[in-house]
Amino acid sequence: MKKIVVFGSFVVDLMGRGPHLPVPGETVKSGFFKMGPGGKGFNQGVAAHKAGGDVTMVTKLGKDTFANVALDTMRDLGMDTSRIITTEDYPTGVALIEVDETTGQNAIMVIPSSCDHIEDAEVDALKDLIEGADILLTQLETNMSAIRRVIEMASGMGKTIILNTAPVQPVADDLLAKVSIVTPNEVEAGILSGIKVTDAESARQAAEWFLSKGVKSVVITMGGMGAFVADGDRREMTPAFSVKAVDTTGAGDAYSGGFVTALAEGKDIFEACRFAAATAALSVTKMGTTPAMPTRAEIDGFLKDHE
Ligand SMILES: Nc1ncnc2c1ncn2[C@@H]1O[C@H](COP(=O)(O)OP(=O)(O)O)[C@@H](O)[C@H]1O
Ligand SMILES: [Mg+2]
Repeated sequence: MKKIVVFGSFVVDLMGRGPHLPVPGETVKSGFFKMGPGGKGFNQGVAAHKAGGDVTMVTKLGKDTFANVALDTMRDLGMDTSRIITTEDYPTGVALIEVDETTGQNAIMVIPSSCDHIEDAEVDALKDLIEGADILLTQLETNMSAIRRVIEMASGMGKTIILNTAPVQPVADDLLAKVSIVTPNEVEAGILSGIKVTDAESARQAAEWFLSKGVKSVVITMGGMGAFVADGDRREMTPAFSVKAVDTTGAGDAYSGGFVTALAEGKDIFEACRFAAATAALSVTKMGTTPAMPTRAEIDGFLKDHE
């Protein structure tokens, strides 16, 4: 099995549910609070690990109590913590999530802090790790200078690079050209390509845009519609599984984790999309992000039931 490095953000999710979302200046007394691990990089690393991947997680934490939310979670799951970067200079990242308990609408402020300040030297220190790995999976939630540096390093070593373009922000053409597989959701694909993605045909057009930038393969996830794949000469819609969705936050993260694990096991991109869709389908049947990521046994059982 190939080795995976997940380079990305960790934040502590601080979630409150109340009678309505506060307007500017308002304080809303609310009845429910929950704290837990989050961050796109971390969610994807956990998803890949639980799906059976050989994952080394790289993220950056402060030296504070919130750092333990990451470290405790990783130890509980049996994940390698040896490449976690720590700093005295910034706190561990947080996401302040407000949820309206009647409408389910939310307002989120994400403050990646330490993960927004990953230094060049800290990326350079990953040289041996990346050299010994086969696949790099990263997102857009850490500082762009670090994203650029780690992609350039892995690209120089000829590694497979998967870029999940969340949260969406512009990606320079020369950087996109170094990406092996880009995995935007339909909104991100639309913003980056300028082609609004609503169906298979518009997804195909957006995928062509990424290919024209030098990306080798494209997977555009489209929620319950599935994912559009462009790989080699093939252009195909791959289905989602029909499940009773309880909470779709983190679906894309589950998908990325399942996808990278399947690729690491030598599956082709279409088989990997099926495995990823099963991973994501299971995740949307549970509340939360990191805790909702399914185990390998759950994914295998689900796939067997849906043959
Ligand atoms: N309601 C759902 N039912 C089944 N699968 C889903 C559902 N929502 C998402 N998925 C799966 O998760 C994948 C990623 O979801 P998507 O919404 O595209 O990503 P993101 O969370 O980044 O917005 C989809 O391609 C699909 O396989
Ligand atoms: Mg979505």
